[in-house]
Amino acid sequence: MQHKQREILVTSALPYANGPIHIGHMVEYIQTDIWVRFQKMRGHLCFYVCADDAHGTPIMLRAQEENITPETLIKKMKEEHQIDFDDFAINFDNYHSTHSPENQSLANIIFEKLDNGGHITKRTIKQLYDSEKKMFLPDRFIRGECPKCLATDQYGDNCEICGATYSPTDLKNPISAISGEKPIEKESEHYFFKLGDFEEILHEWTRAGHLQTAVTNKLDEWFKAGLQEWDISRDAPYFGFEIPDAPNKYFYVWLDAPIGYLASFQNFCEQESLDFDYWCKPNSSTEMYHFIGKDIIYFHALFWPAMLDGSEFRTPSAIFAHGFLTVDGQKMSKSRGTFITARTYLDHLNPEYLRYYFAAKLGAGIDDIDLNLDDFLVRVNSDLIGKVINIASRCAGFINKNFDGKLADAIHGPAIQEEIKNANQKIAEAYEAREYSKAMREIMILADKANQYIDHHKPWVVAKQKNNSNELQGICTTGINLFRLLMLYLKPVLPIVAEKTERFLNIKPLQWQDAQTTLLNHKINKFETLMTRVEKEKIDAMVENSKGNFIKT
Ligand code: MSP
Ligand code: ZN
Repeated sequence: MQHKQREILVTSALPYANGPIHIGHMVEYIQTDIWVRFQKMRGHLCFYVCADDAHGTPIMLRAQEENITPETLIKKMKEEHQIDFDDFAINFDNYHSTHSPENQSLANIIFEKLDNGGHITKRTIKQLYDSEKKMFLPDRFIRGECPKCLATDQYGDNCEICGATYSPTDLKNPISAISGEKPIEKESEHYFFKLGDFEEILHEWTRAGHLQTAVTNKLDEWFKAGLQEWDISRDAPYFGFEIPDAPNKYFYVWLDAPIGYLASFQNFCEQESLDFDYWCKPNSSTEMYHFIGKDIIYFHALFWPAMLDGSEFRTPSAIFAHGFLTVDGQKMSKSRGTFITARTYLDHLNPEYLRYYFAAKLGAGIDDIDLNLDDFLVRVNSDLIGKVINIASRCAGFINKNFDGKLADAIHGPAIQEEIKNANQKIAEAYEAREYSKAMREIMILADKANQYIDHHKPWVVAKQKNNSNELQGICTTGINLFRLLMLYLKPVLPIVAEKTERFLNIKPLQWQDAQTTLLNHKINKFETLMTRVEKEKIDAMVENSKGNFIKT
């Protein structure tokens, strides 16, 4: 069953350091973590790296507001993010920051390579400038009237009322959202990345199986519109990396953000004495995957492969985009209490409920996924508690009490054991293809069958019969083995319950190939509670606590 060992580098998008992790983010980190854990269980060499995305104007402004340096802010945020991820059992091999020496050095190398290749150009542009704050204003820090429909209080780049998109200099009666003053127009020289130079390469790359079909189709619209030059510089004051030989000019946050994937991995390679070049140079035999949300496809499927190609780094093996989370069918909302931070969730509920629920909903496409809070309760309770955990609790007591914890030396239900064992291939294929909902459905069908086996053989009746202890031990041994297989299949999704199960069963950490074996003539430990039911009151309290308490973290 084990094939050649693969070497796989996996990333999730780097969360911004100016806000807390919320359950929308968690769709991505959970999706990625499940995939990585699956690959590791299969025996592959797989590394999962990530980092905080620490640069940009919002972070600079937030630090000013809090009267701290940006360095202090990003340090604090990174610590908070890492605790949240840990508590959701997101198992990064390395978690770094884009504000790091590795990232600065890689950003410089990549920029210089692109520049030497003739892919960088300079040009003077006009932008809105806040003379009081002495800074150029990013689009989202300008408010004014829509030039099309005249709606008031609209952002600098698009109108939320009529949907028009425009340039901030077209906005009527603009004001700076930072100072409240009327901005002036001011000129400044900017650096641009000539994306059009890579049109042919990108056209081919985006059709060569690295992207989901829906993503390729989306890109077609952009190809048709023509690949525009990308403004990669920002003027001081800015929190980021200064561009070499360009005083007071900084790399735009989105230039060094994806480079942060490589920087985090490089930092990991240094710690682990791994060969960074072996993984990251062109034609590497290793694999590299980026999990991202559908809002940042443009950066990952166009800019990023072009940047890599133009600077002699390997390009990604694939980009896996996912959809957005809605809660009870709507965009997360602070007033409805559905803008739920990771921390608020964790204050009330078990992280593995959400890991399972997302897995049960996630496919390989870019459709949005909905967290319906009523469905969440029913689904987790009926599937995990009612079906899976139940198998163990129905059988463990007899083994512990009647047989001193000892499993029988033969299985009583070989047919069902074979059936569940043989499903491993199909389930592995679903995980590999990121069709987790399919994997979960498959596992729950098997759990139903396992319960039917126990219902049929009624160990609680057999236990009362005289001279039937062999049969009782055999039935319960089968039940425990079925449970073991189901937990093995669920381990990428439920690593914490899986670990408790390994302790209870007194076995080594489950690997995928352990599906081939059966636990016989083996002493298990006392059954401990593996997971408790979701309670409605806890969900209500979480929603209540999410109303308004959000902004300050
Ligand atoms: N910093 C950039 C990514 C840079 S990667 C080189 C960024 N950060 S983010 O914090 O806004 O988002 C991080 C990831 O979470 C993104 O992939 C984004 O799509 C995802 N999500 C943010 N909100 C989400 C939902 N409501 N639902 C699902 N995913 C969401 O973008
Ligand atoms: Zn408008």
